[in-house]
Formats: sequence, C-alpha cells, structure tokens
Amino acid sequence: MIGLPRRFRVVVLGLVFCIGVTVTYLTHDDTAVPIAKFIPPSGIKLETQELKRRTDAIREAYRHSWTGYMKYAYPTDELLPISRQGGNSMSGWGASVMDGVGTAILMEMHDVVEQQLQFIAKVDFTRNEHQISLFETTIRYLGGMLSAYDLLTGPYATAFQAREGEKNHKLVKSLLAQSVSLADALKFSFNTTTGIPVPYFKLADKTVNSNDVNIIAGFGTLILEWMRLSDLTGDPQYGAMAQKAEDYLLVVENPGVGEPLPGMLGTHVRIQDGHFTDSYGGWGALGDSYYEYLIKMWVYDSSRFRKYKRRWIQAADSTMKHLATSPSSRPDLTFVAEYANSKSISFRGSHLACFIGGNYLLGGQVLKDMRYNLFGLRLVESCRTTYASTPSLIGPETFGWDENLVPHNQKEFFRKNGFFYGGEIDYRLRPEVIESYYYAYVVTRDNKYREWAWDAFLAINRTCRTDNGFTTITDVSRADGGRKDDKQESFWFAEVLKYLFLIFNEEGIQAKERISFVRGPNQKWVFNTEAHPMKVFRS
Ligand SMILES: *[C@@H]1O[C@H](CO)[C@@H](O)[C@H](O)[C@H]1NC(C)=O
Ligand SMILES: *[C@@H]1O[C@H](CO)[C@@H](O)[C@H](O)[C@H]1NC(C)=O
Repeated sequence: MIGLPRRFRVVVLGLVFCIGVTVTYLTHDDTAVPIAKFIPPSGIKLETQELKRRTDAIREAYRHSWTGYMKYAYPTDELLPISRQGGNSMSGWGASVMDGVGTAILMEMHDVVEQQLQFIAKVDFTRNEHQISLFETTIRYLGGMLSAYDLLTGPYATAFQAREGEKNHKLVKSLLAQSVSLADALKFSFNTTTGIPVPYFKLADKTVNSNDVNIIAGFGTLILEWMRLSDLTGDPQYGAMAQKAEDYLLVVENPGVGEPLPGMLGTHVRIQDGHFTDSYGGWGALGDSYYEYLIKMWVYDSSRFRKYKRRWIQAADSTMKHLATSPSSRPDLTFVAEYANSKSISFRGSHLACFIGGNYLLGGQVLKDMRYNLFGLRLVESCRTTYASTPSLIGPETFGWDENLVPHNQKEFFRKNGFFYGGEIDYRLRPEVIESYYYAYVVTRDNKYREWAWDAFLAINRTCRTDNGFTTITDVSRADGGRKDDKQESFWFAEVLKYLFLIFNEEGIQAKERISFVRGPNQKWVFNTEAHPMKVFRS
C-alpha cells in the first residue's frame, strides 16, 4: 500500500473533466449521445456473412460445452472436463442448467431449453446437504430462473410454446413456482438481529449466527433478484428483506470506518449491528457487484430506486476523482486502484474489476452523462491491453501498475504494456472483459469492440478448449495458456457465451425484438450480475 502520487490522477482527471464540461449541452438530448464526436470511430466494417459465421461459432461452442456437461456431469453443478466428471461447487442443485438456460433461449436452441426446463421443474429446493452461499445461489439460480421466466413469457413465448403447447406452458410457469420455492428455502438467512443475512449456511440449520460478518457484495447484490420475485408474484416479503439489508450500505452506520471515500465503502460488515469492521475496498472482488447494482436498480425502476442512483453517482464520481490512475510507463491507459483507507491506495487490478468499464457505460447511457461514457471507454481500452499484450492473448486474473513494485524480470514488459502480472496468472473463464466490450459496442456501434471480442474468443477457443468442453487454464503468460485446469464454470454458459453471442448476433427474435440491454433511459431489460436479463419494472 502506498500513497497516491498526485501526478497520475491529474492527467486522467484533467482529460475527463475537460471533455465533461464541453459536452454538457448534449447530456439532455433525447437522441443517442454521439460519442463519435469525441472518440473517432474506427471505420471497421463487418459483413453480414462474417457476423453469421461468428454467431455460429459461438453457438457451436455452447453446444460443445453443453454436450460435455450432459455426458459427464449432469445433474451436478459443473463439468470437470479433464477428469470427466461433475463437481458441486455451487450448492449442488445443477448450477450449469440454471446458468445456461437464458443463453440457450437467446440462441433459440429450443431442444436444449426443453431439457433444461424439465430438469428445473423437478429440483427439490427444500433439501440440500451442501454449504450454501446466499449470494451465489441468488445470482445464479434465482437470477437464472427469473430471467428464463421473463424471456419465455415475453419475446420468446410464442416460439417456445408453439413447440409443445400446453406442456411447455407448464414448464414456463414452474420457473416462477420454483423461484418461490428456492427463496422460501433461503429466506431464513435474513432472520438476524439487523436483517443483514448470513453469507453461508446449510439448509438443515434453520438458525443463523448473528456474530458473523458479511461482505458488501454478499448482501448488496440480492436486491434485483429478490425484488423481481416480489414484483412477479405480488408478494412483497422477498424484496423487502433484500432492501432492509441494503439500507445499511445506502446509509453507513459508522462512516468514519465504513465510508473512507464518499460512496466508496469498506468491505466487511458485522451482522449484529451493521457496523463496518474495515475501510479497505474498491470495485474488485468482495465489493464489485454492490456498486454495479446501484445503477442497475435505477434502470430496473427509476421511481422506487432513486436513492440507489444517487449512491452510484457518488461512488462513480469518487472513483474518477480518487482512484483513477495511469501507469507511469503508459499514461494513455487508465486503471482503477483499490484502497486500504481514505489515505492510501494501491495500484492493483483484476480481471473481475474489468466489468467497471461496462458499468460506467451503462451509467453514462441511462443518465445521459458523457463523462461516464468516456471514462468507461478508457477503462475498456485499458483492460483490453491486459489481453492484447500477453502471449496467450488472454488477460491475467490479477495485475499491478505501481512502478515501484515491478518485478525485476518484468521491467521491459511493464515499460511496454503499462502493467505487470500480479500473483495470479490463470484464466478462469471469466466474462468481465468481454462484458465490457459488449457495452462498448452497443453504446458506440463501433465494430472495433466486436473485433476485440472475436480476438478474445479465438484465444479462449485455442487455449481453453478440450474434447468435452472448455476449461480454466493456469498461465496466460504462455502462448499455450500453460496447463489445462479442470473446471467448466457455470458462468461460462451464463456470461461469456451470452455476451459473445449478443455482440455478434443480428438475426432471430433477439434482433427483431431489439432485445438489447444497454439502450438508454427507456430500455426494457437489465442484466443481473450473472448476465441474466431481467425485464425492467413497468407499473
Ligand atoms: C427467527 O429467529 C428467531 C430467534 O432465533 C426464531 O425464534 C424464529 O422462529 C425465526 N424465524 C424464522 C421465520 O425463521
Ligand atoms: C475452435 O476450436 C475448434 C477445435 O480446435 C476448431 O475446430 C474451430 O474451428 C475453432 N473455432 C474457430 C472459430 O476458430
């Protein structure tokens, strides 16, 4: 941890601020914000034929992954493609099915969707032996089922139900019933002195320990799914529980510790009194999706969640002011630092935190504020550098850009690329960089971002593909990705393949219904943090 060298932030801030001031007259315009005025478009052209070839390749990757899962792992949580068996790292109710169904719907693979819905209808959510994470179960299972329900009662209703009529109609209805059953099984975890839920539990326990701590992403990333369930069923209890917990993050009980920068919080919160126990944090692991959901809740319902929007703006502005830094060797790049407290930040980044670019672009789009768009695009471009400059063409799990901490054997690499490999050099089939390309493409319509996404897919297809699916790899600093590890994460289906599909696809129901997820204040859908699209609330 070191103090913030001022010169880094002056460069970035100066640029963002100047642009921000000159474009305020555009921010209340109802038409799309013409980013092209500030960032010249690449002019890259992509023919329809080529786009079709790419969507077919992404569909093929899904089929390949699904076939391997069905052959060796169904109905466990995920395929271990090297050892050819299943793993249960996510509660054991079939996470890959829940995470996979939305993408299969968008790809219009109706045979796979039927298979998945038949399984989901039979899961018994009242029984479970595993340790359960409330956060993971919410974003993957509840998010996956509610999203499938929204899609199949909305734009995909006709096509899907036409296949088997009444039978498929029942399967769709059971998605909502199963969501209720799952939430009812999990809800005792909120029964603490403050209403802040416990992060982990076993279903058999039925009692909770208020002496625990939870993390801000752990209980600040429930509101979209639990509120959607309330809105769909008309039963307010689910949304109310998530909201009560989140109130401790919207107004911090002990801001001296818990809110080191305006809107930017510490990480751990004591369940018994809602007090923060530390001041460290940032947009990376443990905090990330709390910030992400603040703006998404406002997109979901701009009348009920105004407080959330204000909180996002506070965090976003603090980040641009205090945490945006440029590597000394590459002042053209911008990364977002982490902090230990209000006085000390550290220049550490992660693949996970590369979702920030996309989140700023969403914010810029819905708030019509060009400052956020331009900042978001800088972050997207910088995260792309972590991909484009490694021999595997995939970015590392963690990286740094503090010139005082560059390892001796990476001096030249840092000079050229503006970052150095952190402690973790593996790739876990994570989506965040591609997710941000998706937002960048939708906002700018510049094919450059599609090319970047395609580069990423080709690199992943080259290094992570096995005979039975895709897997994590150990070393992105080698052209071959090092050793193949042994896990096909369920979010590979939910996120990576979905964002890739959506960035290229221009056909079928998705294109016809203009189901795009980043359009502006009147958009109809919002992604949960696991890339499950939820229909926004219309009263
Ligand atoms: C909540 O916890 C209290 C005290 O531990 C217990 O008496 C009560 O039955 C619990 N309520 C629910 C709905 O689990
Ligand atoms: C992906 O990898 C497979 C197996 O090596 C190959 O057959 C396929 O052509 C690759 N896809 C693309 C788009 O390169």
